[in-house]
Amino acid sequence: MAEPVLEVHDLHVTFTTEGGLVPAVDGIDFAVAPGETLAIVGESGSGKSVSSAAVMGLLPSNAEVTGEVLLDGRELIGLPGDELRKIRGNDIAMVFQDALSALNPYYSVGWQVAEAYRLHHDVSKKKAHQRAIEMLDKVGIPDAVRRADSYPHEFSGGMRQRVVIAMALVNDPRVLIADEPTTALDVTVQAQIMRLLDDVQAEFGTALVLISHDLGVVAEVADDVLVMYAGRAAERGTVRDIFFRAAHPYALGLLGAMPRVDVPPKPRLTTIPGTPPTPGSITTGCPFQPRCAYTHLVGERCITERPELTPRPGEGDHEAACHLGRRPEVLL
Ligand SMILES: Nc1ncnc2c1ncn2[C@@H]1O[C@H](COP(=O)(O)OP(=O)(O)OP(=O)(O)O)[C@@H](O)[C@H]1O
Ligand SMILES: [Mg+2]
Repeated sequence: MAEPVLEVHDLHVTFTTEGGLVPAVDGIDFAVAPGETLAIVGESGSGKSVSSAAVMGLLPSNAEVTGEVLLDGRELIGLPGDELRKIRGNDIAMVFQDALSALNPYYSVGWQVAEAYRLHHDVSKKKAHQRAIEMLDKVGIPDAVRRADSYPHEFSGGMRQRVVIAMALVNDPRVLIADEPTTALDVTVQAQIMRLLDDVQAEFGTALVLISHDLGVVAEVADDVLVMYAGRAAERGTVRDIFFRAAHPYALGLLGAMPRVDVPPKPRLTTIPGTPPTPGSITTGCPFQPRCAYTHLVGERCITERPELTPRPGEGDHEAACHLGRRPEVLL
């Protein structure tokens, strides 16, 4: 991989709640280089959003974060609030799933994009407004000069998501984290938004961290893939490693049986029987063990010993956290 712009090492996030400690993220590592896309996939509750909020320094005060989040080698964890605010929205930006909640209903979209720019640039309102129009135009809002004066509710869902993307990109961030950026949109619009992100990335060399349930999109745009399960990495590798050589039974389950080179990947994550453990409920052994169809091939170890990410022999940086140590024959 080229020199990464964002590196995350051994990230842990633990929430203190009335019910006790919730270890939502339990030691994950990833990195992304300029112009590259890392996709993070996994079922609901696996810790994808909490991980990205930790990178952005946006977790509530009941969260304890440990590990390293390095932006160009600079540690972000523990930075004072004002330092973080200089970085957030400027060097690292984020697009959330729900465009409507990211926008203020009482201000025109042009004003909101302009303000996002003025937060990090000491320019006149007029200059910022011009910049906003330029960005709205860039993300494909037709007639941007006029539409800049419209309010969020006057836009369709897809157009609102474009506004949110314009706001995220207005300061030319080096890293963009997109958390399910297209889930709320219909299929055609999803494709348009993904194409937009792809174009922007090609033009600006943005490093993209894409959280997605859509394996069709992941297969198309990702360079690397991290498969999360219960706050940990089950498997990671290049997009080809994951789609053609997946080794972890959980990853295989998500892909819905062994993908074949001659068949396009399934568009959505497949439903795996059973439910994921609640954070902290599995303290020994493999968190996936209760749902795994291959435990009998390994035995006790799956229950007593937690599998660590281990390189797949002869497959470069491809790693899986499974005691089986080989690709299982697929039962599905
Ligand atoms: N503020 C919080 N306090 C306590 N627990 C939390 C808090 N925020 C998230 N969690 C827990 O952390 C775990 C991971 O949540 P997260 O939102 O990262 O999942 P996710 O992978 O993004 O899921 P989804 O696909 O549904 O978006 C969940 O068990 C969730 O309940
Ligand atoms: Mg989420």
